[in-house]
Amino acid sequence: MKKIGILTSGGDCQGLNAAIRGVAKALYEEAGGDVEIYGIQNGYRGLIHGDYKKMKQSDFSGILTIGGTILGTSRQPFKEMRVIDNETSIDKVKNMKDNYRKMGLDCLVILGGNGTHKTANLLSEEGLNVVSMPKTIDNDVWGTEMTFGFQSALNIATQVIDGIHTTATSHGRIFIVEVMGHKVGWLNLYAGIAGGADIILLPEIPYDIDKIAEVIDKRERAGKQFSILAVAEGALSKEESAMKKKEFKVARANMKYPSISYKIAEELGDKTGHEIRVTVPGHFQRGGSPCAYDRVLCTRFGAAAARLIMNEQYGFMVALQNEKIVPVPLGEVAGKLKKVPVDCEEIRAAKDIGISFGD
Ligand code: F6P
Repeated sequence: MKKIGILTSGGDCQGLNAAIRGVAKALYEEAGGDVEIYGIQNGYRGLIHGDYKKMKQSDFSGILTIGGTILGTSRQPFKEMRVIDNETSIDKVKNMKDNYRKMGLDCLVILGGNGTHKTANLLSEEGLNVVSMPKTIDNDVWGTEMTFGFQSALNIATQVIDGIHTTATSHGRIFIVEVMGHKVGWLNLYAGIAGGADIILLPEIPYDIDKIAEVIDKRERAGKQFSILAVAEGALSKEESAMKKKEFKVARANMKYPSISYKIAEELGDKTGHEIRVTVPGHFQRGGSPCAYDRVLCTRFGAAAARLIMNEQYGFMVALQNEKIVPVPLGEVAGKLKKVPVDCEEIRAAKDIGISFGD
């Protein structure tokens, strides 16, 4: 009898249930029904506090198309994992190991992004059997060309830009669409290209507000009455990029705008004399049903994770590389961020067709 625990951790995204279903169904198939699955509630929090339940095989049916996660999720910062709570004296790592043993698990399946993988690696180093799957709309997990959730969120963000395009054209207006992604700009880069944005601002390429104003001015002189800016949540100016990390944090904390897009809108408005509208789809980008691509990717990831478990190959994340699903050691994934390389082919193509990156 194999005993497997599953948890989903960090910000949710489309495809979590599809991936849970994938690994569970493949385990039931491969183990000939001789498997017990424990659903750990709300990510690592459930593992710390012993909040889990034995799942039935039927729990994994009918969830392929459902957004969110049937297990719930939470953010448990990695940097606090080894900190003993003063009031409760809870030793989080010890509790997680104790609960793993209490359930009698053969393996813990962890679905998560960057922060989640640091803790997954910690648990693996602490002697637990761990297999993980890369999820996030940001597509910034090291070691995989694609995370699940990205393509679904991309479809939504692109639809938002498409919708803004028509109203921007009718009114001859300048619009900013703010796309999720604090540290990396994959989602905004792809949505910006797919939605035909004129200017794309990424965290990886600090912008110069004067350059952006020049682009808008040039478009106007060419008879183009509207402009669309796709701005990543984490876009930053050249001045901000020159700041020390702490100084930048303070500057952002004291910023009078709800997000960077509003600051850009005001500054650009002053420079161009136009009123600039901002649209922020926010968490809507993470919601709803996974797209067909993600459903397939989650099924492939899930089946590959089950295969690793059946072969007792632990300490790996399943990843997409060169169109194949491969295992990548957790130690190689943890603590790294897959940023957009500024010389990547996508940026080059975008620049070739005249898209500005504000640099
Ligand atoms: O990591 C996924 C993500 O949606 C990012 O794109 C975004 O910056 C962040 O999570 C938002 O975090 P929260 O859900 O905690 O508001």
